[in-house]
Amino acid sequence: MSFSTIPLTGSKPDQYAQLLEQARALLHGERDRIANAANLSALVYHALPGLNWVGFYFYDGHELVVGPFQGLPACVRIPLDKGVCGAAARTGETQRIEDVHAFPGHIACDSASNSELVVPLVGANGELIGVFDLDSPLHARFSVEDQQGLEAIARAFLESLQ
Ligand code: SME
Repeated sequence: MSFSTIPLTGSKPDQYAQLLEQARALLHGERDRIANAANLSALVYHALPGLNWVGFYFYDGHELVVGPFQGLPACVRIPLDKGVCGAAARTGETQRIEDVHAFPGHIACDSASNSELVVPLVGANGELIGVFDLDSPLHARFSVEDQQGLEAIARAFLESLQ
């Protein structure tokens, strides 16, 4: 199989609808979470501009452990009381951070990062699975529309595991 990304066009919601369609096609028929996280990281990293890290952390019952990603090597383990990722995992709420340097406890894996979006991944029974994390070297890279589009992609990932 070869996969070619089709450039996203139109308004931001239109672009996210196209990206979601590509994500669903990529995940179709596969339930393995490593495989699906790896392919989704690659899809999103290459489809969206202005990103320096896209990937997954999985909850091991104690802390977050790095999973498949695109970008520079990252911190391996993140306790739930640390960082933007820990805050998303602990609260169950997406963290959309315009300036990571102003976020208490932010963990700088890549010093180029200036803004960050972290979507918690919560399973069908309310159990914490992990987080989907995106970093950008741009300030305030992620708008509410980006948040909504990337939350929909995270839901497609969760659905693929069922
Ligand atoms: N900045 C994150 C750590 C993970 S890296 O961005 C890949 C945080 O503060 O949780």
